[in-house]
Amino acid sequence: MEILVTGASGYVGSALIPRLRADGHAVRAFARDRARLAPQPGVEVHTGDVLTGAGLEQALAGCQAAYYLVHSMEAGEDSFRERDRRAATTFARAARAAGVRRVVYLGGLVPANGEASPHLASRLEVERILLEAAPEGVALRASIVIAARSRSFRFLVRLVERLPVLALPAWRDNRTQPIDGRDVVALLARAAVVPEAAGRSLDIGGPDVLTYREMVERIRDLMLVSRPTWGFDRTLTRLSGRLGAAVSGEDHELVGPLMEGLRHDLLPRDGAAAPLLGVRLHRFDAAVERALREWEAREPLAAR
Ligand SMILES: NC(=O)c1ccc[n+]([C@@H]2O[C@H](COP(=O)([O-])OP(=O)(O)OC[C@H]3O[C@@H](n4cnc5c(N)ncnc54)[C@H](OP(=O)(O)O)[C@@H]3O)[C@@H](O)[C@H]2O)c1
Repeated sequence: MEILVTGASGYVGSALIPRLRADGHAVRAFARDRARLAPQPGVEVHTGDVLTGAGLEQALAGCQAAYYLVHSMEAGEDSFRERDRRAATTFARAARAAGVRRVVYLGGLVPANGEASPHLASRLEVERILLEAAPEGVALRASIVIAARSRSFRFLVRLVERLPVLALPAWRDNRTQPIDGRDVVALLARAAVVPEAAGRSLDIGGPDVLTYREMVERIRDLMLVSRPTWGFDRTLTRLSGRLGAAVSGEDHELVGPLMEGLRHDLLPRDGAAAPLLGVRLHRFDAAVERALREWEAREPLAAR
């Protein structure tokens, strides 16, 4: 197939492109800045912006499928929710006009009980906009993706590396199912071609159900460092978000909204996605080991 990948300079988009190439597809990469793209032989590069719609018509012309892997968690005059709504609507309109049958989106899991945070509600809104636009759209929803370039995982690793004591607020006992980046790439690649996935919203998660505390402690143990954990009974989301961003060196625009999403369990509605898409899932420890190895091959990790 002829496939467009938006967010090609981001973690998920750049990891997906080689897999789509290996599967035999003709791939086009869409990015705001060509210089931010890793060189990918055989990939046609299109520059543009999903917020303004620049470059989309040409990039989508003749495509049977398109991935929407854009995330606009950056400082700006309007809220990320407003920007994400505008970007998704612009992209959906362009995809419909180009006759793209399958738009594949990766968004976030939402809590089964309890109100979704503004960030997760926004990801859900983007899903609705995209599924309405393409007759065979597919949405996957994940919580934390474990990979060296995944910003949510990098945030956790930096905290473990840099904090002498791992202070965990009240949400430490909430549970989630982090997923290996390799599995996300495999599920996304299959989502474009499996006929039974058409029109569906599928939750994806790894095989291990972990509390946030267990997740941090397992990452700590796999990094071979000794850091005591200390739980306290306040949520302190705003303060934790600011401190977490400062310690990890990540943007507060990303960390703050991510932390608000930890107030409830974030678990898949069911385990239908992996068998439907024919993907076997890696265990959490294998995912972290592999991500840390990949990290160390690219840049130093002081704590190991
Ligand atoms: N990583 C995770 O743990 C995780 C977990 C669950 C779901 N997801 C979902 O996966 C998707 C991709 O996430 P990611 O981790 O790959 O994020 P990422 O590394 O931050 O990449 C985001 C991408 O969006 C692009 N972008 C932002 N605004 C744009 C615009 N106006 N026009 C065109 N491109 C724009 C960025 O381009 P620039 O390089 O130009 O900034 C970048 O390529 C998101 O929908 C996210 O919700 C990720």
